[in-house]
Amino acid sequence: MRRFENKVCIITGAASGIGRSTAIAFATEGAKVIVSDINESAGILVVDEIKNNGHEAMFIKCNIGERSEVLNLIETTVKVFGRIDNAVNCAGIAGKISSPVHEYPEEAWLNQIQINLIGTYYCVKFQLEQMLKQGGGNIVCVSSAAGLVGQPDNSSYAASKHGVNGLVKSAAIEYATKNIRINALCPTAIETPMIMHGRRNLAENPEALESAKNHQRMKRMGQPSEVSDVALWLCSAQSSFITGHCMAVDGGAFA
Ligand SMILES: NC(=O)c1ccc[n+]([C@@H]2O[C@H](COP(=O)([O-])OP(=O)(O)OC[C@H]3O[C@@H](n4cnc5c(N)ncnc54)[C@H](O)[C@@H]3O)[C@@H](O)[C@H]2O)c1
Repeated sequence: MRRFENKVCIITGAASGIGRSTAIAFATEGAKVIVSDINESAGILVVDEIKNNGHEAMFIKCNIGERSEVLNLIETTVKVFGRIDNAVNCAGIAGKISSPVHEYPEEAWLNQIQINLIGTYYCVKFQLEQMLKQGGGNIVCVSSAAGLVGQPDNSSYAASKHGVNGLVKSAAIEYATKNIRINALCPTAIETPMIMHGRRNLAENPEALESAKNHQRMKRMGQPSEVSDVALWLCSAQSSFITGHCMAVDGGAFA
């Protein structure tokens, strides 16, 4: 049985990596998927792939760091599909700078907070407004293992993801009696463009890639589907008593 038949699901950051995998997985399970991203051309490719497989999807361009664009994402979705059953907020950035706090360029530090934390806040705020009107829904925010512990030389990313976890836990309590659940996922190294072309440029540095894999308990990177599978489960009826959870998807890193 398809778990999300005719459910309306918004995925931000859906043009790549974990978001792309989540969008395709929801569509395969019968959902009407709103593929949203700042990257229009890559987002449209994801929509084409979903439609070519006989499923339903639509692209809406949105920079989550811009309040008006997030509002437009939510309003357009509701205009076209009438409601929002599930939202998975994957959009995020990981800066390429490695630096201790006092030397980290201020503009770059603040930009990660603007996108990862304030952008996620805009998404959650407007998603909640709609879910309250319609009587329920599920939200998953893709945070990070850097939202659970500090990450040296990457303080702004870690601060933004700790902020996301605080937002998720607080909102989960606020809306627990409103038929709205909200959870976070906290992955470690997942093989996506963000990490392969990120601070350590693993795609072009075989030694660093080997070392990154060896650093993992399972001696391998996680795959996007190993995160999106959990996101779908958190949006499904199978997780109906789980809210406010910041779940590590980490191959045992925090065991
Ligand atoms: N890959 C990992 O190892 C890892 C680990 C922990 C957490 N995460 C988190 O997972 C999420 C997805 O990352 P990914 O690894 O799939 O990366 P990715 O770079 O493959 O995908 C991120 C997507 O977000 C989009 N995006 C970036 N800024 C945006 C903005 N302002 N508005 C809208 N869209 C924007 C990008 O265009 C891209 O399509 C991120 O929030 C990231 O912090 C990733």
